[in-house]
Amino acid sequence: MSRTVYVNGEYLPEEEATVSIFDRGFLMADAVYEVTSVLGGKLIDFEGHAVRLKRSLDELDMAEPCSKDELLAIHRKLVEANGIDEGLVYLQVTRGSDGDRDFVFPSEDTKPTLVLFTQSKPGLADNPAAKTGAKVISIEDIRWGRRDIKTVQLLYPSMGKMMAKKAGADDAWMVEDGYVTEGTSNNAYFVKDGKIVTRPLSTDILHGITRKAVLRMAEEAQMQVEERLFTIEEAQGADEAFTTSASAFVMPVVEIDGVALGDGVPGPIATRLREIYLEESLKTAI
Ligand code: PDD
Repeated sequence: MSRTVYVNGEYLPEEEATVSIFDRGFLMADAVYEVTSVLGGKLIDFEGHAVRLKRSLDELDMAEPCSKDELLAIHRKLVEANGIDEGLVYLQVTRGSDGDRDFVFPSEDTKPTLVLFTQSKPGLADNPAAKTGAKVISIEDIRWGRRDIKTVQLLYPSMGKMMAKKAGADDAWMVEDGYVTEGTSNNAYFVKDGKIVTRPLSTDILHGITRKAVLRMAEEAQMQVEERLFTIEEAQGADEAFTTSASAFVMPVVEIDGVALGDGVPGPIATRLREIYLEESLKTAI
């Protein structure tokens, strides 16, 4: 069935939605994006995603395509039009097109391009992968230095997923100067002796919206959290590990570079955090 999508003020069947070939998102990856999950037909942490979008736009001197309230209305309309119970809303803003290819940014009156579409993912909350856990490999992090800006430069993360797939794993954790930065599309954590360890925020990683919520919930549940650099070797010696993202919530990790963690099954802290996150975020979904 054809989805209804949103492009620059219009709601259209997906096959009728178009963007210029001169759009800077297409030519230069001059674009930022957000992915917001939907559970029970409601948006999870819309506010967090809207705030990060604004920050990404500001960091790149890109104009806001519309107000936060208008963005919320578009999200809601698409969720309703496409009957999304569990799934995702993808949003992308580009610097637009001034009708040619030029490295120099177009003039300030060039309109940004705004595109949104939904992805239906029945079973997102009750994902069987969360019961078996994910296997990850490590790869070098060769991305650019502003990973805190959520740009659409996703070629290397895509290559990382393919490297993982080839190696019989589910995902890759990226490593820079000997320390884990993050997963290809998630933030990375390990747990040792009851303490949750994750890399601190900087320009080296995306400031995950799920990360922020999960760390707050972990502290509220009296779990210990330490934000510091860590190596693959340290994570391999951990009791358990997990990742967080809007598309997979809290996902246990059971193997790193072929080394099983603990008993090789999802650990109690990751499992509990997934439950808490789903429970708590549903309460504030809008
Ligand atoms: N990815 N780190 C990277 C590199 C990511 O791409 C993502 C999200 C995260 C987690 O951020 P959040 O908790 O805000 O989803 C961390 C999204 C889901 C994607 O590209 O599909």
